[in-house]
This record gives sequence, C-alpha cells and structure tokens, in this order.
Amino acid sequence: MIPSLLPTYNRVDLAFEHGQGSWLVTAGGERYLDLGAGIAVNALGHAHPALVEALTEQGAKLWHVSNLYTIPQQQKLADKLVDLTFADTAFFTNSGTEACELAVKMARKHWYDKGQPERTRIIGFEGSFHGRSSAGIAAAGGEKLTKGFGPLLPGFTHLPFGDMDGLTNALSGGEVAAVIIEPVQGEGGIRPVPDDELTAIRVACDEAGALLIFDEVQCGMGRTGRLFAHEYSGVTPDIMMVAKGIGGGFPLGAVLATEDAASGMVAGTHGSTYGGNPLACAIGARVVDIIADPEFLNEVNRKAGLLRQKLEGLVAAHPNVFDAVRGTGLMLGLKCKAPNTDVLTACYGAGVLCVPAADNVLRILPALTIEDEDIAEAITRLETAAKAVEGQTQ
Ligand SMILES: Cc1ncc(COP(=O)(O)O)c(C=O)c1O
Repeated sequence: MIPSLLPTYNRVDLAFEHGQGSWLVTAGGERYLDLGAGIAVNALGHAHPALVEALTEQGAKLWHVSNLYTIPQQQKLADKLVDLTFADTAFFTNSGTEACELAVKMARKHWYDKGQPERTRIIGFEGSFHGRSSAGIAAAGGEKLTKGFGPLLPGFTHLPFGDMDGLTNALSGGEVAAVIIEPVQGEGGIRPVPDDELTAIRVACDEAGALLIFDEVQCGMGRTGRLFAHEYSGVTPDIMMVAKGIGGGFPLGAVLATEDAASGMVAGTHGSTYGGNPLACAIGARVVDIIADPEFLNEVNRKAGLLRQKLEGLVAAHPNVFDAVRGTGLMLGLKCKAPNTDVLTACYGAGVLCVPAADNVLRILPALTIEDEDIAEAITRLETAAKAVEGQTQ
C-alpha cells in the first residue's frame, strides 16, 4: 500500500525537534552537528535571532498580499540585490526550480521579441542540477532525473562538463537562446568550473550572441566566500537563478537579470501567487543584509580555510575512506573511496550530518555562521565515522 506520504524520498529514520546554530536536536535530546544546513539553505544556521525577529515582526503584520498590489518588502529586497550585483531587475519565486522556469522563459522571450524566434535552444552541462520542474529536468538532462517523464520540454542540448569545443560548435548554428551553468556544481559532486572556463563561456556566448544563465541556487549567497560564486571569475551572467540560502530556511528564490535580458518580460508575461510575499521578502532582506556584509564574508573565508585544512588532514589520515577534498569556501566535498552512502551512515552514527552527491562525494555545506569550536567538533565526529568505516572494511 502506498504510504500516506508520497514515497519520493529515501529518508533516514531521524527527526529533529529544534535547531540552534549548527546543531539539530531530536525529541529525545540527541544532538547532531549539521554540516548539511538543509542542503545549503540554512545559511545562517538554525534559529538565527535576526531571522527569528524578522519572521515574527513581519508575521505579526502581514504574511501575504497578491502581486496585484505594491509590496514594499519585495521592492526593498529587489533594490538591495540590484545594488549588490550585475542585475538591473529581480523577480521573486518560492524555489530554485521556479527560478529555472523563469530563466528559460526569459531567455526565449528575449529572442522572440528581438525578432529571432528561432533562438530557443538552451545548452546545459552534464552533471548539472536545475530543479525538478519540467524545465529544470530538461535543462539538466540526466537520465536519473528525466527517465519516464517524457516527452521532455524540447530544445535542450547537453554537453560534457568542461567541453569548450562542443560549446563553440553548439553555439554556431544561431539557434541558441542561452547557456545555463552552475559556477560550482552542487548535486553533481561539488565541481567548480575553473575561472578561465567561465570566462571562455562568457566570451563564446558573446561571440555567438547567446545569453548566459548562471544557476547560483546552491553556490550563491555567500556559500563560496563571495556573495555569488561567479564573482571570483570576474565575469557576469545575463540572468541568474538564486534560491536556497537567500531565505535562510524560508522558501524564497529569485531571478536576477540585466535590463536587456529581461526586456521581453513585460506585464502579463509571468507571475506567481506566492512569489515575493511580504513575509518571505522581509526575511530575505535580513539574510541579504547579513551575508553581503564584507566582514561576514571575510569570516566565511577564514572559517572555510580552517575547515578545509582540517578536512585535508582527515583525508590524509584515512586514505582508505577518503580520496580528496574539493570545492570552494564552505561549499566543500569529500570525494570518498569507500561508498559515500556507507560513510554517510557512519556519520549519522557519529552524530554529524553531511549530504551525499554524485561522483561518490559527501557534501560539507555547514551554516556560514559555524563556530570554530563546531568545526573542531565536526572533525572529531568525522574521524569517528571514518574509523567506523575502516572497521567495517578490515
Ligand atoms: C543548482 C541548483 N539549481 C536548482 C535547484 C532547485 O532548487 P529547489 O529545490 O529550490 O527547487 C537546486 C536544488 O538543489 C540546485 O542545487
């Protein structure tokens, strides 16, 4: 019999009652050190006082009004994001996959309105993840996401990760509306795109006249030590998808775009009932204020250095369990030698939470606010997990 909850998740038998900072606590009082942060969502940890304040203050006043009306909280958040980024305009969604829907629509409408309706193709990269909507799975293209869900949304091409020659070829036909890429692949196994490659992709798009979409749903909002990961490369996209960390745990996403890229999105072309409601935007504005502060980002980088150094030591001490550390900032991956699912089970046993990814990687995505002592505790617990895995294999 089908369970009352649609069984689409492989859930572990762990339920949490409350959280504080980098810790999650079960109803029985067991404490788990959270190195997953809701898969890069709880950027400021659990129950951050400033977010609790923003939630309760706005929650007591007004949760939702229709986008038929002016929403000052939404305007304020859009202004902040426009000030802080390449973008001239923002649209708010409830999730990353909705941001993907709009990014694809925006790119196609841009060319339609410019008199090039044949430019509809979107080029993506293998190993990517852009969400579970029809556009999201079509953009990523992996069999795991798409099998059985056909016919897929047409007009998507997928290239191997890093295939620059393939990109130049694919762009040459004049049918490409946009290239979509995560500057650091998350679900794909924490695979950063080298800066020179992002630059080359930008140049190739410019030469072919295609738009460039960055999906910073997972790698954005301070996760890599910059507000957005692409800032390291010095290149900017035309359209960017944001979600996860921007709400700090409250459902919120955004599409940021240049004026030119967004030129087709006039009144009546897109909308969302919940997207950009006052409650989400009041929280989002507080998150952005905290994370965009250069001192906060300096601290993220300091902590990232500390954590990375300790993780390198862990890998060196347990060469049968781990292979390497990869990633940027606090978006780190432990490439495993043992099956990552075995290591994850051992992590649960040691009271530390990580997130599996493709390519036999365990993701380490702690709250950006993780304390130094919690970094030390994380390593102790990961050591315990590694020893447990070694014990099984001996
Ligand atoms: C890079 C990337 N894009 C899009 C999404 C989809 O976001 P959501 O789950 O909020 O729809 C995710 C979610 O993991 C993601 O990591």
